[in-house]
Amino acid sequence: MIPSVLPTYNRAPLSFVKGEGAWLIEADGRRFLDLAAGIAVNALGHAHPALVKTLTDQAETLWHVSNLYHIPQQQALADRLVEHSFADTVFFTNSGTESCELAVKMARKYFHDKGQPERVEILTFSGSFHGRSSAGISAAGSEKMTAGFGPMLPGFKHLMFGDLDGVTDAITDQTAAILIEPVQGEGGIRPVPDNEMKALRQICDEHGLLLILDEVQCGVGRTGKLFAHEWAGITPDIMMVAKGIGGGFPLGAVLATEEAASGMTAGTHGSTYGGNPLGCAVGCAVMDHVTDPEFLAEVSRKAGLLRQKLEGLVAAHPQVFEAVRGSGLMLGLKCVAANTDVVAAGYEAEVVTVPAADNVVRLLPPLTLTDEDIAEAFARLDQAATLVEAKADA
Ligand SMILES: Cc1ncc(COP(=O)(O)O)c(C=O)c1O
Repeated sequence: MIPSVLPTYNRAPLSFVKGEGAWLIEADGRRFLDLAAGIAVNALGHAHPALVKTLTDQAETLWHVSNLYHIPQQQALADRLVEHSFADTVFFTNSGTESCELAVKMARKYFHDKGQPERVEILTFSGSFHGRSSAGISAAGSEKMTAGFGPMLPGFKHLMFGDLDGVTDAITDQTAAILIEPVQGEGGIRPVPDNEMKALRQICDEHGLLLILDEVQCGVGRTGKLFAHEWAGITPDIMMVAKGIGGGFPLGAVLATEEAASGMTAGTHGSTYGGNPLGCAVGCAVMDHVTDPEFLAEVSRKAGLLRQKLEGLVAAHPQVFEAVRGSGLMLGLKCVAANTDVVAAGYEAEVVTVPAADNVVRLLPPLTLTDEDIAEAFARLDQAATLVEAKADA
């Protein structure tokens, strides 16, 4: 009999009932170190006092009103995002997938309204992930996500990750945009080098294309800058955000320049919940922290410390790990052993990590992780690796 929850996940035999900072407490009382943060969501950790207060204060005042009315919390969050980014304007969504939907619509509408309706095609890359909607899976294009769900939405051309020559060759009069994650998450924590980000910007400028960045996983302070593209010194035309911006409240956003957003006039797009008072009040509280230069400097310092520990871990367990990669607190352990065995051994060692493609174990801890948590992360991952080795030797 089918379970009452549609069985689209292979769930671990764990059930967390409480969170405190970088720790998750299991129903049986065990404390797990959370190096996953709900897949890069709990940017400020669990039960952060400022987020709890903001959410409860707002809940006592007003939860939801329609976008048919002005929403002061939404205005405040949009102003904060515009102030701290390349963007001139913001639309709020409830998830990364919905941000992808709007990014694709916005790019196509831009060219439609400029009198070039044939320019609908978006170039995307192998290993990418842009969500599970029809547009999201069509954009990413992998067999794993698309099999059985055809027909795919037309208008995406899939290129090899890192193949810049392929990008130039793929551009035609129908090309509208390039869509890329500055650091691939699901694809195995693969950062796009700064020189490639710069080259993509240049290609877009030369060919009059829009550059769409998917910062759903790598944005909102995760790499030590507010947005990952800042490391390359470039700006996109459109950017998708979600996950960390809500700190655990379902919230996403599409940020855009005035020019790129010019086709999105009244009536062209909407969302019932997107940008509601609860979500945006929490988003403002997250922004209070992640826009603070000292907070971002701490992310980079802690990322350096964690990375150093992970390098030691890789050196100590060559049968289990091959390399560390990533940016800031978005790190990947490329495995020699099966990554799923490493994640499962982590559960035994009471540390939570996430598998990704390319046999990588992802570490996406809360950005508020402490130095003590980092020492504990090393100890628990070391224990997990020892368990994997023991199983291989048995
Ligand atoms: C880069 C990227 N884009 C889009 C999404 C989809 O976001 P959501 O699951 O919030 O719809 C994800 C989710 O993992 C992601 O990592």
